[in-house]
Amino acid sequence: MPATNRIALSSDHAAIQLRQAIAGHVVAQGWIAVDIGPTTPESTHYPQHGEAAARLVASGDCRFGIILCGTGQGIMMAANKVRGIRCGVCADPFSARMIRQHNDANMLSIGVRVVGEGLALDIVDAFLTARFEGGRHATRVGMIEALEV
Ligand code: RB5
Repeated sequence: MPATNRIALSSDHAAIQLRQAIAGHVVAQGWIAVDIGPTTPESTHYPQHGEAAARLVASGDCRFGIILCGTGQGIMMAANKVRGIRCGVCADPFSARMIRQHNDANMLSIGVRVVGEGLALDIVDAFLTARFEGGRHATRVGMIEALEV
């Protein structure tokens, strides 16, 4: 059964504090945060954390994923290698809303060295409250899915 109220959270070492702030923020809104770490600050490798969160979303265990690294870029690239994942990096709420409305994104990536905590939480809110509009956008999302070989 798809867990419609579960959000997978992961990051690399650079973004632990912001990830935990986001986890608390979404839990306060009634979501279940499936925070898969890491929790200690040793240098680690963002691809493994992006993949781990993406697998939770792709399997249906979590409805959305929110992932973070220094720029948000590397962990996004890793997540997007998992079949069924559509993840965008956002540094503004408008983009976060649009990747839901037009691209049916199921994961959001944020760069901790790009945005501060207040803006990051606004970005998360924009992503989680927007709805996919379907229609012509569904055609285009289908074209993205057709690229998955
Ligand atoms: C780690 O120093 C850094 O490379 C990583 O957090 C991220 O920015 C990569 O895209």
